Formats: sequence, C-alpha cells, structure tokens
Amino acid sequence: MAAKEPIGVIGVGWVGLCTAAAFAELGHEVVARDILPEKVESLSRGEVPIHEPGLPELVQRNAERLTFTTDIADILDRTRLLFCCVDTPPTYSGDADLSRVERVVDELGESDEHAIVMKSTVPVGTGRSIKRRREALGYVSNPEFLKEGSAVEDFMHPDRVVIGADDSSRGFADRVGALYESLGGPIVRTDVASAEMIKLASNAFLATKISFINEIANVSEELGADVNEVARGMGLDDRIGPKFLKAGLGFGGSCFPKDVSALKQLAGNSGYAFQLLTSVIEVNDLQKRRAVGKLQKYLGSLVGKEIALLGLPFKPDTDDVREATSLVLAARLQGEGANVRVYDPVAARSAADMLGGSKVCDSALEALDGAHAAVLVTEWPEFAELDWAGDVKQRMANPLVVDGRNFLDREALREAGFTYEGIGR
Ligand SMILES: NC(=O)c1ccc[n+]([C@@H]2O[C@H](COP(=O)([O-])OP(=O)(O)OC[C@H]3O[C@@H](n4cnc5c(N)ncnc54)[C@H](O)[C@@H]3O)[C@@H](O)[C@H]2O)c1
Repeated sequence: MAAKEPIGVIGVGWVGLCTAAAFAELGHEVVARDILPEKVESLSRGEVPIHEPGLPELVQRNAERLTFTTDIADILDRTRLLFCCVDTPPTYSGDADLSRVERVVDELGESDEHAIVMKSTVPVGTGRSIKRRREALGYVSNPEFLKEGSAVEDFMHPDRVVIGADDSSRGFADRVGALYESLGGPIVRTDVASAEMIKLASNAFLATKISFINEIANVSEELGADVNEVARGMGLDDRIGPKFLKAGLGFGGSCFPKDVSALKQLAGNSGYAFQLLTSVIEVNDLQKRRAVGKLQKYLGSLVGKEIALLGLPFKPDTDDVREATSLVLAARLQGEGANVRVYDPVAARSAADMLGGSKVCDSALEALDGAHAAVLVTEWPEFAELDWAGDVKQRMANPLVVDGRNFLDREALREAGFTYEGIGR
C-alpha cells in the first residue's frame, strides 16, 4: 500500500488542531506549527488548550503521528501540502486582517514542490493575490465549515468539502481531494474565487436566517404570536429547513460577526452596497441589547441592581468567547449602573479579563444568590437542571428570568412564581 501523504498544518487553533488530529486519525503523519511556544509545549505533552468535545481523545489517540513545532523549516522539510489555519480577525473597518496569512506566505518562499492549502476564511481575491506574489507555489482554497462544539464530528462527516484551484495548481487540488475521499461527503471542485465566496456566502446566509427569525420574534412579541411555534411551522417546509431558526440574543462567536462584516466590506470595496447584510448586522446589534429593555420593563432603573448572567459563549460546548453576546450585555448592564455577576461552566475564568467590572462566580447558584434578575445567555444543560422552583427561587432577591435562548421551561417557571420573559413569545 502506498504511504499516506504527510500533512503540514500552520496555526493550531480550533481549525488547525482539528485538521491536524483528524488527518492523523486518518493515518497521515502530521506536522503542526504554531508561533506560540507555550501552546506547542502543552500540545506536545498531549494537553489540549481549548474546550472542544472529542478533541483531547483524538489528539491523544494519534499522538505518535502528530508532531507540534514552532519551526517552519520542520514543516517544509517533511510535508508538501501546507494547510494554513491561522486566524483572520476583523480590523476596525470590518475588513479581514490578513497579516497572519501574509506572514505565513512570506515564510514559505517560492518552492514549486509545496502548496498552501487555505483553510483560514479569507476575502475573495486572496488566492489570486497570493499567486501573483508567489507564482511557483501551489495554491488550493479549502475553506472549513466545522462548528465549534461539534468540530471533530463535522470534520469527520462533512456536508461537503470545497476545493478551489486554478489550472496551475490542479495537481495539488487532486491530492487535497484524495485526503477527504474516505470521509464520504460530496466534494465540490471549483475555481479559487468561487471557493472563497462559498465560505463567506454560507456564513452570511446563516447569519441572515438568524437575524430574520429574530425580527419575526420581535414582531411576534408585539402581535401575540409565539416565535417557537412560528419557527416550527416554517422549518417543516423543506425549502426553509428547521436549522438556524432559533430566536435569541443574536449571533456571536469568532466567525459569523467577522465574516458577515468582511463580506459587506468586500462588496463595498468593489463598489457594491450589500444592503441586506447592513440590516443583518444592525438587527443583530439591536438584538443583543433587547435583554436590557426587558429587565428595565420590570425593574425600572438598573442602578444598583444585581443581575446574574448565565453562560458566556455564543453556544454551549465551547469556551470561545470572541464576539460573544454576553460581553456586550455585561458592558451595557454596567453602563446602566447594574452590578453584573457571571457564571459559565467552562469559559468564565478565561474570559475574566474581557468582563470588565463583572464578578465571576464559581457556580450558577452563587451568581443567582441575591440577584434581582437572571439572564440566560448560553443554553448549557445544567441551567435547565437547576432547582428553579426551590433553591433558586429562595436565593434570588426577585424572581425575574429573561431567557435569551427560549431554553427554560416557561410554564414551570411561571407556576413557581417567576416572571418569565423569553424572546418572541
Ligand atoms: N473557529 C471556527 O469555528 C472556525 C470555523 C471555520 C473557519 N474558521 C476560520 O479558520 C481560521 C482559524 O480560526 P480559529 O478559530 O482556528 O483561529 P484561532 O485563533 O483559534 O487559531 C489560530 C492559531 O494560529 C496561530 N498563528 C497565528 N499566526 C501564525 C503563524 N504565522 N504561524 C503559525 N501559527 C500562527 C495562532 O497562534 C493561533 O494558535 C480563521 O480564518 C477562521 O475564520 C474558524
């Protein structure tokens, strides 16, 4: 049997570590490089620095095929396909910051034996401009669609794999395609610009779905409909589908906000005003603040009020709090004069620096003790399992719950004497 292609991974965050561990699981030797020595050291000891279900097991099980290094030469010597998984955060203008990608390209030089396989989410046109600078280097666009919280599962069972390459890199693209064959998902072969656009358009479309259902929720509140019922009825139409129709406090996380704004900027820079995305962003910003209005409706002024925020990340099973709604909410509540306490089962301590003057608690009960209101931000199962009617009710100074994810049992809470406010119902 032919030896499996060795794989290089550059940037070992959510995407890079998943990519590295998954290819190792598929039998490839993987050399993964990060610029942070402490990250490389802890990964070399088998310690995974992020909360992602199944990832520590995958890394440990494949330790003998996984090498972590800070040295780019190591990767260039031992591998030919170099998966670029560095971060592309937003700049102040909303454009993607490509400085890390640029640095990687600078380091790779001009060898025609190597190809950069771009997994980082980059603006349309990035591949073309890298090829202009490094003509000999192969270039394959291979955007990543995994979701934090189910990243390993998503990587191993992809809905589709997108591979974009132009004529000169077709051979490298064939090799990339071969890596995914055993996973069984459909492989979309296309040109580089279209592959780049598929990624941005997919995230922008999902974000649009979320802002749409949030607007339906807001109108439902005015008109007496229940957005959960509306979403259920809509989602059964297979042209619409049930996913991303959950009303809440708006989208957050490390991808949607930055990718939507990057696509809007990209369109604007090309002379096209993407009006729909402007609204999607605006609706999302307002949605994050709606919980404050709901608290004021019952508490009046929030000056001196104790408000418990339950959950920090944009969804459970991750400790990634980049662009999390909770951070905006905490700042807004503090701006209104409230004292904010937060609890999250995995993210609270790591996010402490970003939480300004909020008190970080060790348990949900500690956060709720003496609180005038609770705002549920992340639907961690443990929040549904709290003894709301007993222990929680006794501890809170005032039984008000704003359920930002329509997650708790509304009827049970009302029966127990709580004032319950959901979203859109
Ligand atoms: N996180 C997700 O759910 C997700 C999903 C799909 C796509 N993406 C995209 O994938 C990319 C990576 O996202 P992430 O969340 O994994 O990022 P991350 O911030 O978790 O990880 C990026 C890593 O790259 C490292 N790095 C930066 N410059 C480097 C260099 N020159 N050489 C080696 N390492 C370097 C950083 O130290 C960091 O460890 C982004 O473009 C993102 O938009 C992310």
